[in-house]
Amino acid sequence: MKIAIGADHGGFQAKEALISYLQSKGFDVKNLGTNSEASVDYPDFAQKVCQEILNAQADLGVLICGTGIGISIAANRFKGIRAALLYSDDVARLAKLHNNANIAVFGGRTMSVQEMKQRLDIFLNTEFEGGRHIRRLEKLDVVGECFR
Ligand code: RB5
Repeated sequence: MKIAIGADHGGFQAKEALISYLQSKGFDVKNLGTNSEASVDYPDFAQKVCQEILNAQADLGVLICGTGIGISIAANRFKGIRAALLYSDDVARLAKLHNNANIAVFGGRTMSVQEMKQRLDIFLNTEFEGGRHIRRLEKLDVVGECFR
């Protein structure tokens, strides 16, 4: 499985830790930056990861900013992207089970790296349930068109 990962400066250190962690588990990880603690703009890194997924260059994505909020908002503006801020273990499971999230989002200043690793494990080991949730996911794109 290919995983694209990106972060702003608020998520840079956590991103480095998660890259090593995912690689140690055998995942093919593409690092889309940022690659230092210098201040950058989170929408730029959300865009890089979203494009990688929408162009079928990656199966899933991971995004990290300080809170995880800004980079979630940015990612969810891309049609076809379902970015979920994994603020608990239960949410990590439900984000895949019910929402078929294709990007896991974390807050570099609000979560520990250990919490992120645990939630990523749960997210990656959960399958989308399908059924009634398919209809709901399809409506996301319709609603998106209406409000554009
Ligand atoms: C950057 O200082 C910070 O605003 C950003 O990482 C994020 O928390 C925004 O939502």
